[in-house]
Amino acid sequence: MQVLSVTPEIFPLIKTGGLADVTGALPIALAAKGVIMRTLIPGFPTVMAAFKKKKAVLQYPLLQGAKASVHSVQLAGLELFVLDAPHLFDRPGGPYGNATGVDWPDNWRRFAALSQVGGDIAGGAISGYQPDIVHAHDWQSAMTLAYMRYGKAVGIPSMMTVHNLAFQGQFGAGIFGELGLPAVAMALDGVEYYGGVGFLKAGLQAAWAITTVSPTYAQEIRSPEFGMGLDGLINMRSSDLYGIVNGIDTGIWDPETDKHLVSTYTARTLKARAANRAAVEERFSLDRDDSPIVCIISRLTWQKGMDILALVIDGIVATGARLAILGSGDAGLEGALLAAAARHRGRIGVVIGYDEGLSHIMQGGCDAIVIPSRFEPCGLTQLYGLRYGCVPVVARTGGLADTVIDANEAAVSAGVATGFQFTPNNGGALLHAMRRLVDAHASPAVWESLQRQGMKADVSWDKSAEKYVELYRSLLSKRVA
Ligand code: ADP
Ligand code: GLC
Repeated sequence: MQVLSVTPEIFPLIKTGGLADVTGALPIALAAKGVIMRTLIPGFPTVMAAFKKKKAVLQYPLLQGAKASVHSVQLAGLELFVLDAPHLFDRPGGPYGNATGVDWPDNWRRFAALSQVGGDIAGGAISGYQPDIVHAHDWQSAMTLAYMRYGKAVGIPSMMTVHNLAFQGQFGAGIFGELGLPAVAMALDGVEYYGGVGFLKAGLQAAWAITTVSPTYAQEIRSPEFGMGLDGLINMRSSDLYGIVNGIDTGIWDPETDKHLVSTYTARTLKARAANRAAVEERFSLDRDDSPIVCIISRLTWQKGMDILALVIDGIVATGARLAILGSGDAGLEGALLAAAARHRGRIGVVIGYDEGLSHIMQGGCDAIVIPSRFEPCGLTQLYGLRYGCVPVVARTGGLADTVIDANEAAVSAGVATGFQFTPNNGGALLHAMRRLVDAHASPAVWESLQRQGMKADVSWDKSAEKYVELYRSLLSKRVA
């Protein structure tokens, strides 16, 4: 089976969050099950720099007429189609905006172009390559399914995976004329959304199947509270809606072999975490003592509940725990956390920025990781935490609810607990969870059981990749012969 995946991000080439980890790991997990996944990505500067030998398999004047080409390349076990369109993607800054984080005004054109190429490849534009299924991720590639539906690839089964409903790609009606879609597409059951054009909406409408990245989030997005305005459409399509929890790349995230760690370890050699812990104390200028170090590795945003954390941060310090915070995002939140670190020298350390290597050392050295998200489609840092014996403390929502077993009395005495959950998501409940954590940490037997159980949990892609394969098969069986 040949699947074409279309995504704006893929690890290790271009990453702003968990989407990249997932699109980078899924093809490798699927290959083990006999599914060949090729991935179409934009030719951002880091992507173009990663390969020297190029072979154009498709040439274009794209949307506004500028030159572009698609290259077929292999990298780190991945089979890629790279859309080289310098006028759209060869820019400094991030994949979606300039260096100060302001979105590019022509994002609609950039990702419509990516999607149009996805639709063309689905329709057989590359000689010798015909995908059986097309799998799109998030709003940036969602229009692929619209280009398929109104073009040659109408009969090819498609899947739309929602990694985050908060980002929808909504634009004014004025862009429609430049998308190259037939007039009939500008309709309620097409790409039209509140009078404009909705990219994710168009994908949700056209997809043969819709998936999101955990079973709980799949249920949550059917409600107005989590549906972000799309709950009506999602409910209408609920018989085609599935929740498949993300796995992690257990080759990259393995405490036994992780090259970023100061000291590698296994569940049997947890004491070897001490050298990583010391490295965290040093990097974050924390006091050296036996109190638990709780870390945060996150975008600093409202979604991630970072304002809730900032609100009760003095109370967290009062529990005796230390905090090591790595992240970047909202300037107000960055400021609030830096101010807290200045108030509590030695107890709170903050590094503003993005640092993949440091994130590994933190998982390998901190005692716990806290994730107070307001909503979390899946969340990967709690899965890395489980695998690294860095006990997760999570809000009971989305994928966090599905992957962590709360250390309530029953679970602790049965020896199955792997972390702490709290609800409702407010400062009081977060503080209560932090107190439970500090108490549990004071009992080495309880704490080590939490760590070992977590490290035993199956966070690999194996079962979830199998679920994708089953779903692909069921879509193939719906094809009209
Ligand atoms: P989201 O995609 O919503 O940001 P996830 O938990 O799915 O959340 O994925 C976040 C990914 O980004 C993880 O791989 C995490 O380790 C990484 N990450 C987030 N912030 C940072 C940071 N400041 N430095 C390094 N890695 C980070
Ligand atoms: C999104 C979500 C996150 C999820 C990731 C990968 O960024 O916010 O919860 O883990 O996508 O699916």
